Order: sequence, then C-alpha cells, then structure tokens
Amino acid sequence: MSEQLVFQPSAAAIARTHVTKDQYEQLYARSVSDPNGFWAEQAQRIDWMKSPTIIKNSTFQYPDVSIKWFEDGVLNISANCIDRHLVERGDQVAIIWEPDDPKAEAEYITYAKLHEKVSRCANVLKSLGVRKGDRVTIYLPMIPQAAYAMLACARIGAIHSVVFGGFSPDALAGRINDCDSKVVITADEGRRGGKTVPLKANVDKALQDAPGVEKVLVVHNTGADVLMKGSRDVWWHEAAAGVEPFCDPEPMNAEDPLFILYTSGSTGKPKGVLHTTGGYIVYASLTHQLNFDYRDGEVYWCTADVGWVTGHTYIVYGPLANGATTVMFEGIPSYPDVGRFWEVVDKHKINIFHTAPTAIRALMGAGTEWVEKADLSSLRLLGTVGEPINPEAWMWYHKNVGRGRCEIVDTWWQTETGGVLISPLPGAIATKPGSATLPFFGVEPIVLSPEGRLQEQTKAEGVLAIKESWPGQARTIWGDHSRFVSTYFETYKGYYFTGDGCRRDEDGYYWITGRVDDVLNISGHRLGTAEIESALVSHPKVSEAAVVGYPHDLKGQGIYCYVTLMSGETSDEALKIELRNWVRKEIGPIATPDLIQWAPGLPKTRSGKIMRRILRKVAENDFGSLGDTSTLADPAVVTDLIENRQNR
Ligand code: WTA
Repeated sequence: MSEQLVFQPSAAAIARTHVTKDQYEQLYARSVSDPNGFWAEQAQRIDWMKSPTIIKNSTFQYPDVSIKWFEDGVLNISANCIDRHLVERGDQVAIIWEPDDPKAEAEYITYAKLHEKVSRCANVLKSLGVRKGDRVTIYLPMIPQAAYAMLACARIGAIHSVVFGGFSPDALAGRINDCDSKVVITADEGRRGGKTVPLKANVDKALQDAPGVEKVLVVHNTGADVLMKGSRDVWWHEAAAGVEPFCDPEPMNAEDPLFILYTSGSTGKPKGVLHTTGGYIVYASLTHQLNFDYRDGEVYWCTADVGWVTGHTYIVYGPLANGATTVMFEGIPSYPDVGRFWEVVDKHKINIFHTAPTAIRALMGAGTEWVEKADLSSLRLLGTVGEPINPEAWMWYHKNVGRGRCEIVDTWWQTETGGVLISPLPGAIATKPGSATLPFFGVEPIVLSPEGRLQEQTKAEGVLAIKESWPGQARTIWGDHSRFVSTYFETYKGYYFTGDGCRRDEDGYYWITGRVDDVLNISGHRLGTAEIESALVSHPKVSEAAVVGYPHDLKGQGIYCYVTLMSGETSDEALKIELRNWVRKEIGPIATPDLIQWAPGLPKTRSGKIMRRILRKVAENDFGSLGDTSTLADPAVVTDLIENRQNR
C-alpha cells in the first residue's frame, strides 16, 4: 500500500479540536525550547496540595541518570481522579462496567459511588496494615474492583503492582517477591470469553513461593467455592462493610512512587518499571485529553486490560483525572461472537474507541457482516495502540468501523514512557495509515544509526531514541537503578533508547518498525525471549533453547522456539505438546509457543554466543540472506536448521 496516502483532518475534527495545526506547531516548539514554562502551565490542570515551584530536574547523562519533575509539589492522585469532580459531577458515571456475559447486567458507577468504593477499600487496606510506601499486588480480572484497588492504593500512598490475570502462579510469585508485597488483592475467579480463570487458586499456589505475603483480600466475583485460609484471607465485601465510607487522601510528594508494573526486557527476569506521582498524572491526563480530543460528556472505551500500562494510563488514571466516563470491559472481542465490540459500542453509545491492531486484524478476518450490522453512529474517534498497525488493517478500521468519518489515532508509547509519545492530535495532524505521525508536546524523538550516529536529515532510518525527559517517564526499575541506567541509557549515551526501530519520512512522520532487541510483541503483549527460553530449559528433557519472533498474520509476531533435547530424549509431536503446555503453565497462555523446531545444535560463535540473527532469518523463512556465517563454530548446524524449518 502506498505511503503517499494522507488523510487530512475532517472539517468536524478541525471545528472541535482542542489544538489546531498552527497551535500544535507553536506549542510544540515552545514545549521543547522552554520545558519549564510549558510544563509549569500544564501542571495547573492538576489540583495540588502544594504547587510545584521546581519543574524539570532531569538528566540522561550516563551514568548519572536522574529523572525528576515537579519535585517540591504535593498532591494525591486519587483526589484528582475522584474528589475534585464530586461537586460538579458526583452523579455523572465515571466507570461503565460491561460484563463478559452480554446477558449479565452492566454496572454504572458514578463519581460519588467511586468515592465511596475507593474510600472503603483504602480503609480496608489500612486495617490490613498497609502503610504509605508499602507494595500491594493486584491480581484481578477486569472488574470495577481493579480500578477501586488501584485508586485506593494511590489514596493512602501504597504502591500498587498490577499483575495481569493471565499470568501463571510462578510469574505472579516472582513479581510479588521482587517488590516484597505483603498484601495481594485477588478474586475467587475471573471470567473471560465464557470461561473462568482460577485466580484465588493461582494465588494460593503462588504464595507457596512467596512467604512474605501476610494478607490476601478476595473479591467475591463468580461465587465459586474457594479455599479461605483463616488468618490470611479476607473477603473484600465483608471487610468493606465494616469500615468508614470516607478516607482522607494522603499528601504525596510529586516524586513519591505510584506504581510498579512488570514488563519484559531483552534479558533476564521482567523488570519492575516504577512510575511516580506528579509527572505521571499531569502527563496521563494531558495526553488523554489531547490525543482523543476528549470533551466532557463523551463515553470513552479503551479495550485494554488493567494488567498492562495502557489500562493504567488510558482506562483508569488519564480518563478519571479528566472527569471522563470510561468503560471497563471484562470480555474478549470474539465472545459470544465476533460482533461483540460493535454491540457494546452501540449499547453504551461509545464516542471514542481505542483498541489494539491485533484485535482489528482478527475482526477483519471475520468479515464485514458483523460490523455492518451495527449502527456505530456514536463513534467519533478511533485509536490503536500496542504494536505497529499494518496499513491494510488501518484502512479496514477507517472504512468499516469509522465509516470513513472518524479520525484515527495510532498511539506509540511504552510501559516506560507512562503515556503516549508519538501520535496524531485529531484535528491538527494529518494521518498516514501505518504511521504514528508526530511527537507529543515536550517529546524530542531522534533517529540513530545502529552504531549511534545521529541522523540529522529529515528522511532517515535507524533506531528510535528520545533526547530529553518528559513528565510521564519511568523513574527507575524497582530495586535496580543500575539496570535502569544500563538498559535505557548506556547503548546510546545521553539519550533514552526505546528498543524500537523506526523510519522518519520526508514530512518528519515516524513509522515504528518494531523492536530491535530480543523483546517480542505477541498480540500487543510484551514478552522477552529470555523468559520463554528459561521456561523451556526448566523442563527436564530440554537441554538448550533459543526463542525468536517471526511475522504472524493475526498476532503480529509469533513465538518460534528452537529446542535442543537432552541426549536420549525422543523428539516427537507428543513432546512438542508437552512443551507448549509447560510454557503456558510456567508463564501464562500468552507465552504459548507457536512453532517448535528440534535443533540438535544451535548456531554459535566460537566463543559460544548464539547467533540469533541466523535463527531469526530461518524462522522468517528467509534463509537466502543469512549474512556472514563464517564465524560459526559449526556451519553444518545451519543446513540442518534450514532443512527442518517449521515456517514454510
Ligand atoms: C510497541 C504498550 C508501533 C513498541 C503501550 C513498543 C508500538 C512496545 C505501538 C511497548 C504503535 C506500542 N506502533 N509499535 N502504536 N505502540 N508499540 O510496554 O515496540 O507493552 O516498544 O507498551 O510496543 O509495549 P508496552
């Protein structure tokens, strides 16, 4: 598809936009030339208990990386997301909860109700001994209690770590231990696509390896019979009934931690990305408003899960800070049928719909009759997030869901960036299908050659880095600042390295081409090859494993595993199934291998380093261009790998 395809903002979008094209250009220039002035003004959108006088105090200088914003300001995020709206919009719906089962009742939670629910949860947490600075792990399905729990932590100054409900007990235990949570919040079970997920049983298993947990707060969700351990386990509804319905928000310094969110890197265990209070909420609320051109009274639906950063910033914190009506959806796009998204859009009269390219591709594959049946006239704007969107999917979305009249915003960002960094502002920036377009205010993207040379000409290709700090940026990795510095600031000194490759076209538009490191993006979910490899080699029959990604029509990337067995083991189909199930159990269903190839040997250099470049090429079925293989210890290995490749 032609890259020349350009969509100018519609007249309707131009007429209502918060930021016009000229304003974007002027404000952008100001935001980078005078960050202190620009962000001091933007900070006023938040209610401070003490206004900040110091705005930006950040350096990317290796190795003394330090990121601080608004450092003498004092505020509480829960008060900003709830209390300050009560006078004007106490009766407005804050959260619409749409259940997995379309026949079950939706819930409409007003800001007044949210205040009560969050306050009660905050008081329960206090009664369980949680104090400012303590870590609380949240392992919940997409039910309102997930948002209550996050906001309750923010209210009392506890640091939440939300773990996606699809992760295994092992993965959960690792995340609990890494940040020493003493309290875990979960539910008896979750529901997803007509199935149940045994969350409480998973927590029980995880806690066998996480002895530091003292209390488990359990939401009575499906009503399943679960084991409650006397002194440890507490029912949420019982505890909440016994506490006051109000709780004073704790004054928090702008740089006090708000949450930890574990995400995959190219090596080792998932890292606990740490976000703090002031900068995060200023950035979340500003990007939510401008990126979606949000206006009072609109209904906004982001289909992500709160277990990922998108759920944090663009289901909970950004929308609620703006007094929006935000939708939480418990289900999946294909249950009970592939018309579900469109049915929910009509049911709740959604104005802004935000989803992942992988969902769009899957629904596109199901044909147009489902989307044609729906009315969809409430829709005004469509968003995509999480992975590169191929122009075909963009066009399908535009034509069939947007009916040619909705703006599309392709939002590029990361767990580490806290909020959107590159995306069109509707009504201001013309779009090109497949491009995330231009940077947000205060964001200075740069393109570097892989060796680190700055590409100064507009048209360029290379790796994507960012020149200066922005308020929503992660501050560190929990308990390991040196890993933070070495992961993001060492390879290209003086810059934040994103791990993504990109192209910048003659108009200065950015086209993200995907990760350049060993991080996979499976259906918009981030996974490290190292995690999957370590799960595989923990199987008694596996001696060695190497995992790479390969292009996958629906998931964006698929998981391709090269496995060397212990001598004497039989490499048959049954063992492949066993290994697939093993990885599911070790990490979770999202990490299930797509293709497994038995590899009697892996291509290694004489010093024993696995040459992943070759493994990627074979997995991509593109072995004509393997490049230099002369440094291999045993070049014959490659011939065998090609002969037995699985992706043909
Ligand atoms: C990828 C999700 C292209 C990218 C918010 C990034 C994207 C990683 C886009 C972060 C997009 C996210 N276009 N690629 N619009 N959005 N990515 O931390 O590779 O789960 O580095 O954050 O997803 O994934 P994460």
